Amino acid sequence: MHVAMIGTGYVGLVSGACFADFGHTVTCIDKDAGKIERLKAGGIPIYEPGLDLLVASNVKAGRLFFSTDAAEAVKDADAVFIAVGTPSRRGDGHADLSYVHAAAEEIAGLLDGFTVVVTKSTVPVGTGDEIEAIIKETRPDADVAVVSNPEFLREGAAIEDFKRPDRVVVGTQDERAKAVMRELYRPLYLNETPILFTSRRTSELIKYAANAFLAMKITFINEVADLCEAVGADVQQVARGIGLDGRIGGKFLNAGPGYGGSCFPKDTLALVRTARAAGSPVELIETTVKVNDARKKAMAAKVSRAVAGDLAGKTVGVLGLTFKPNTDDMRDAPALDIVPALQAQGAKVQAFDPEGHEAQTMLTGVDFKANPYDVAEGADVLVIITEWDQFRALDLDRIKLLMNKPVLVDLRNIYKPEDMQARGFLYTSVGRA
Ligand code: UDX
Repeated sequence: MHVAMIGTGYVGLVSGACFADFGHTVTCIDKDAGKIERLKAGGIPIYEPGLDLLVASNVKAGRLFFSTDAAEAVKDADAVFIAVGTPSRRGDGHADLSYVHAAAEEIAGLLDGFTVVVTKSTVPVGTGDEIEAIIKETRPDADVAVVSNPEFLREGAAIEDFKRPDRVVVGTQDERAKAVMRELYRPLYLNETPILFTSRRTSELIKYAANAFLAMKITFINEVADLCEAVGADVQQVARGIGLDGRIGGKFLNAGPGYGGSCFPKDTLALVRTARAAGSPVELIETTVKVNDARKKAMAAKVSRAVAGDLAGKTVGVLGLTFKPNTDDMRDAPALDIVPALQAQGAKVQAFDPEGHEAQTMLTGVDFKANPYDVAEGADVLVIITEWDQFRALDLDRIKLLMNKPVLVDLRNIYKPEDMQARGFLYTSVGRA
C-alpha cells in the first residue's frame, strides 16, 4: 500500500515509520522545511526510544520518504493520514481544528482515484463529517472515504504501542475503506489483534472516552493517596488490592503529582466542551480536570510541609521536569505548576532533567544543573517530580552529604519509606505513611 502521512509531529512520524516497517511505502509530509531537511539527513526531531533506528532502516530499505510537497504522495496514495496537531484553543478549551481543516482542503485538490482519508489526529466527534464536507466542496468528483482511526500511543513506548496494540479502532462503514485499512494493519490482523470496526462518530468518541477514563483512573488513585495519608494507609497496597480485581485492572493506578502531557489535559478538556455543547455534560470528567489542576499546585504545599512549613529562602532541588520519563515533552508537565508555586513561596529552585531541555525556556529563575548531584548540592530539600530510571539508582549517601539537610520529597514513590528512613533521610512520598 502507498501511504501519505500529513503532519510529521509525534503521531505522524511514529505512525509513518511503523507503517513503513509493516512493508508499506510511506511519505511523511510536513510544511516545516527545516524539519523535513533534518529528517532526510537522519535527524529525529523528537526523543522517542527506538525511533531513530526504525526510521533509518526503513529509509534505507526504500519504504520511507520525507517531503514538504504533498502532491505526488497524495496522488499515489491508497490512504492519506491526517496527523496534524489539534491543540486546545486558547480561551475556551475546544480542540483547534484549523490545521485539520487546512490539511483536508489541501488533500482534496490532490486526490486521484479511490482514496481513504484517515484522521489519526485526536478530533472531536463530528470532525470526520466536516472533513468529508470540505473535500466534497473542493472536489465534488472525489472518490473518497473519510475514516477515523485514533492512535493510542504512549510517549516513550509509542513504537511498542503501535506494533503490539491492545486493539485497533477503525471508524467507517465503507466496505472499500475497510479493505484498505485491513491491508494496512495486516501484520496485526495476522497477530489476532482485535480490529474494531465502528461508525465514524463512535470511533472518534472512543479515543476521548479512553483518555478521559485513564485520566479519571489516575485522579481517583491520587485522591485515594491523599486519603491514605490522612488515615494512615498505604496507597500502593490499596492500588494492588483493587487492581488485582480484573474488573478494575492494575494499570494507571500509580499515585503521583497529577497527570500531564500532550493528551490527557487537552483531551479531557475537549470532551468536556463537546459534551456540554451536545447538552450532555460529563460531570465526572469535569471534576477530574478540576481535581487534577488543583493537585499539581498542591504539590508545592507538600514540599513546604516537609521543611516545617517555610520555603522562604530555602533551596529546593528538583529532579525531573518532563511530564513523564523517556520523553523530552514538557507539555502540561506538573513541573510547570509545581516549580512556580515553590518560587512563589520564596524558594530558590535548582533542577535537572535528562531530556527536558525545553524547560529552560518555559521556567524562569531556575538554576539548571548538569546532573542530580549538582542539584543536591546545597539543597534544603530534594523533590523528585519525574521518575526517570537514573533517579532510581542515585548514590544516596553522596546525595545526603551534598545536601544542606537530607529531606527528600518523592512525588513518584520510587523509593521505599523504610529504606530511606534507615539511610537517615527525612522522607515524604505520596499516599504512604
Ligand atoms: C496517553 C495515553 O496513554 C495514550 O494512549 C494516548 O494515545 C496519549 O495519551 P501519554 O500522554 O504519552 O499517553 O502518557 P501516559 O503514559 O498515558 O501518561 C500520562 C500522564 O499520566 C503522565 O503525566 C503520567 O506521569 C501520568 N500517570 C500515568 C500517572 O500519574 N499515574 C499512572 O499510573 C499513569
